[in-house]
Amino acid sequence: MTICNSESKDTKPVRNESVLIIDDDHSIGQCVECILQIAGYKAVFTSTGKDGLERFRDDDFDLVITDLKLPDISGLDVVSTVRQQDPNVPVILMTSFSSMESAIEALRKGAVDYIIKPFRNDDFAFAVERALNERRIKRENAVLKRSLKKVFTSNKIIGESEGIKRVLALIQRVASTEANVLIQGESGTGKELVAQAIHYSSARAEGPFVPVNCGAIPGELLESELFGHTKGAFTGAVTAAEGLIREGSGGTLFLDEISELPLNLQVKLLRVLQERQVRPLGSTSSYVTDTRFLAASNRDLKAEMEKGNFRPDLFYRLNVISIQVPPLRERGRDIEILAQHFVQQHSRRMAKKIKALGRDLIDFLNKYHWPGNVRELENVIERAVILADSAVLTCGDLTEILPAPSKASVLPALANKPLSIEEYIMEFVKRYQDTHSETELAAMLGIGRKALWVRRNRWGLHRGSAASRGNHANPSETEAA
Ligand SMILES: Nc1ncnc2c1ncn2[C@@H]1O[C@H](COP(=O)(O)OP(=O)(O)OP(=O)(O)O)[C@@H](O)[C@H]1O
Ligand SMILES: [Mg+2]
Repeated sequence: MTICNSESKDTKPVRNESVLIIDDDHSIGQCVECILQIAGYKAVFTSTGKDGLERFRDDDFDLVITDLKLPDISGLDVVSTVRQQDPNVPVILMTSFSSMESAIEALRKGAVDYIIKPFRNDDFAFAVERALNERRIKRENAVLKRSLKKVFTSNKIIGESEGIKRVLALIQRVASTEANVLIQGESGTGKELVAQAIHYSSARAEGPFVPVNCGAIPGELLESELFGHTKGAFTGAVTAAEGLIREGSGGTLFLDEISELPLNLQVKLLRVLQERQVRPLGSTSSYVTDTRFLAASNRDLKAEMEKGNFRPDLFYRLNVISIQVPPLRERGRDIEILAQHFVQQHSRRMAKKIKALGRDLIDFLNKYHWPGNVRELENVIERAVILADSAVLTCGDLTEILPAPSKASVLPALANKPLSIEEYIMEFVKRYQDTHSETELAAMLGIGRKALWVRRNRWGLHRGSAASRGNHANPSETEAA
């Protein structure tokens, strides 16, 4: 190890990376600091583990180099704490003892390298350069991934209807602000897509987009998931966790199904929105958050508020700007445009050569009421593409998926009731089974008699039905007879 002279320490950093050195041996610490400064890095030297970790918390470092034996804490603890606080920052461990055990332990705890003192300057520089290179590659990957995602998501909202144009215009207007936005609309209308578009069109696009489904996580867990917790805050909290609010720092937290947030957490979230202060579970102090909040609900949040299920103060905080995503059945030509898009997407994915949608199919898609909105349309098209065996997708390809439209002039009678496809068929059968024969029902629905028989059997719809009386036999049997 060459000794540095004091003049070389005046070298200005030419690289935009900083390294933290923790070593109780001043001569070694200063020497390492000096080697790094000559190499053009910004280097900071501290002589205790506690000081080092404090500096790490307060400043941004790209690499930490720590001695194994420190006067206050072990270098291995430094490795664990740094990894816990920022897993992207590499740590190199230095030691005077060539003990295999501590080397393995250091690597197990997440150190990227292990240097035995005394070391040659070249070896040391090589280890530093390798660790920082890895970090640069990781960073570039993350930026690349984010920019790809950005291109991907901003083109992802498809549609030309007035309703969707209004949504797109609002997205552009709110993206440039820091306002909380409440996105409402029926299930499957594209609320999460809207939230992503706001994030990726905003100045926060390079930051993280963190979605959380408030309805999918039980209340007790949701609290620590959102706000984070300290080590030992509750039974089972063996390590500290940052929480999703912190994870969204510099980016956006998307609170999906916000109506499901328990009342006690509504109070806690309100405090965060009002004061920007977050207190993790078990902690005695709060930190200031820099996360933007977007929320979505497929329930009418105002109605929930009037029923006492949702706090009015939180509602008004979240609803600074409101975006209402219209249901698919009100989007006119969008149904056809989206269907074409999904046909292309899925036939490409499944290496099928489906080029177009037949006119009869388009007419039918336009008539159907789409209770599951865009998600349902995508599912229907995906299944049709799987089953199709010609270049043009027709109603026949939907035979087993949706009622056939050409024969179903009676279908609109059910159209104002939001139902799944199976429920739709059941309602249809219930409504017309007393006035139509089984053959007629099957023909109107555009499904085989056997498929109808299986469904009616499953739903217990044979009994007591006038039209189907004397017509209960398995169609394959009667057909065979
Ligand atoms: N305008 C659109 N263009 C293209 N794809 C869309 C559009 N709207 C929705 N989708 C697709 O439909 C599916 C459902 O969208 P999304 O998850 O955003 O709906 P949601 O309103 O959040 O649903 P839920 O209320 O069930 O959470 C996704 O696969 C999404 O990519
Ligand atoms: Mg959603």
